[in-house]
Amino acid sequence: MKTQAQLKQEVAQAAFDYVRGRVGDKAVLGIGTGSTANCFIDLLAGIKAQIDATVASSEASAERLRSHGIPVLDLNAVDGVDIYIDGADEANAALELVKGGGGALTREKIVAAVAREFVCIADESKLVARLGAFPLPVEVIPMARSHVGRELLKLGADPVYRQGVLTDNGNIIIDAHGLQVLDARTLEERINNITGVVCNGLFARRPADLLLLAGQGGVRTLRAG
Ligand code: A5P
Repeated sequence: MKTQAQLKQEVAQAAFDYVRGRVGDKAVLGIGTGSTANCFIDLLAGIKAQIDATVASSEASAERLRSHGIPVLDLNAVDGVDIYIDGADEANAALELVKGGGGALTREKIVAAVAREFVCIADESKLVARLGAFPLPVEVIPMARSHVGRELLKLGADPVYRQGVLTDNGNIIIDAHGLQVLDARTLEERINNITGVVCNGLFARRPADLLLLAGQGGVRTLRAG
């Protein structure tokens, strides 16, 4: 029986092989955040001489990339992102995701929005029939904490302030527990429309294009649609 750590390593290797086969010399890679993305970053170190540029979805990933000698650029300094590789907390068959367990959801959503291709990498425990068992992270401007909490209550969530956490953007995170995610896209837009919300961890308006999913039988490839 493979452990979850082994599955993460395996799916990172599959993503590494996929990326190597698709990008040319001048490619800009978008790099996600979390333990699965970290496995991918560590593999990239082996081909750093061939990497023209990366953009990172968090300070932590930028630091890890730089520690390997891999160049990291500001997103505003590149014309586009060829492929974005990142993990997820949940994924469904439509490749809609819940992200932000690590608190990097806003930058992740920005890089995903820019990327020509978004490849999500995960172990099979992340694939769910319906999103929402994982508490939905919501990044909030600090002064709007109570207001956003009350609005999330109206949507049927149990909002929990993530104590002691400030995002890379200087904001707080509220985790919305117990949400019924029947229509992920509509809910994503609705939560984003609450004044004081920076963004939420539903990735439905811009889902992944490809999901590489590691299980006991190997790595499966799922495509949207
Ligand atoms: C980071 O903010 C998240 O969106 C991560 O992508 C997500 O939490 C997956 O993390 P692991 O790869 O550590 O499971």
